[in-house]
Amino acid sequence: MKNKVVLAYSGGLDTSVVVKLLQTKYDYDVITVTVDVGQDDDFKDIEEKSKAIGAIKHFYFDVKEEFAKGYLIPCIKANGLYEGKYPLATALARPLIAIKTVQVAVKEGTNVLAHGCTGKGNDQIRFDITMRSLMPTLKIVAPIRDMNLIRDEEIEFAKEHNIPVSIESRKYSIDQNLWGRAVEGGVIEHADSEPPQDAFQWVKTQNMPDKACYMDIEFDSGIPIGIDGKLMSIVDLIQYANEKAGSYGVGIIDHIEDRVVGIKSREVYEAPAATCIIEAHKDLEKLTLTKHEIRFKQIVDEQWAWLTYSGLWVDPLKTNLDKFIDTTQLRVCGKVKIKMYKGSLRIVGRESKYSLYEPKLATYSAGSTFDQSLAKGFVELWGLQSIIANEVMRRSEE
Ligand code: ARG
Repeated sequence: MKNKVVLAYSGGLDTSVVVKLLQTKYDYDVITVTVDVGQDDDFKDIEEKSKAIGAIKHFYFDVKEEFAKGYLIPCIKANGLYEGKYPLATALARPLIAIKTVQVAVKEGTNVLAHGCTGKGNDQIRFDITMRSLMPTLKIVAPIRDMNLIRDEEIEFAKEHNIPVSIESRKYSIDQNLWGRAVEGGVIEHADSEPPQDAFQWVKTQNMPDKACYMDIEFDSGIPIGIDGKLMSIVDLIQYANEKAGSYGVGIIDHIEDRVVGIKSREVYEAPAATCIIEAHKDLEKLTLTKHEIRFKQIVDEQWAWLTYSGLWVDPLKTNLDKFIDTTQLRVCGKVKIKMYKGSLRIVGRESKYSLYEPKLATYSAGSTFDQSLAKGFVELWGLQSIIANEVMRRSEE
């Protein structure tokens, strides 16, 4: 009897090639695991594909709710944006996919796991570290990385072995889930040129409505609970926001990203819901948190996004940061109004029972309760050292 390997299987080019390689080059019996994090694929099709390539067993897990509750909500509370731009969709899904794959391995009595990651990306780091944190003795087989395969060689190999390759995967490397869609490779690699129309599927880039639209998001303790006046489950809410914002052209991110392995890459994302929800959440924090909380939390948020991106989801530091972040969220309750028009997004209103915005202090009109006479002394003390430093520099130049 052959040894068993459990493969995290998406049904895409890399992992399909890997099913075959694990059988022919590594001599394993292959068990595939597909984890539904909202990628909206045809999962029956994926199961059939895996069997057709020769897997002996296939598992499917719908973890959309677990993904949204355990990963996306913490990301929202942390305003999770890597390098200020990328809402971390792929990075957030990898640990959960790894966990489910390890669970199958335990059930099937094997300690050999496999994934289809290359040696150039971040996903190998996220898979390897999460898997090892659960099962330190396991063996990880990553054929694409081990054999140093490039995409064209994979396509060639797939053809030779009758593995169907979609038109899309001939052009790009795509990864998607509830929180966003990542498009890499092909002409996207030309960092100086605009991505072609066909790179986008969630966000309209033309023929958008001629009228602006509004979207209200309601938060309770930092968690989005309702949208446009309707209370919704987190999964429904994200799907609703993806569709609505996407149809108004909101949610495309195009940036140069620093991968963990040192490569700078040009990345294109579609993340309409993530873009709106994080922007709204940040705005509500500005209304309800003190400036001291906000300044410190920005440092924590940045560290949180970096850990998540870098495959260190399981590091105790991330749990520590989550605990701090949770304590800041208790007053982040209320509503934020977003206005969208042909790809632009603007927050145009916010309200909260915990608002620290005091109209009586802020107003320039009659009724102000702010005593301006207190400001004079305050300003003098506030600038004291800066004024002295300037004086000292002038003297030293004489
Ligand atoms: N650059 C992103 C990240 O590292 C997205 C990776 C997407 N993966 C893919 N196979 N297209 O999280």
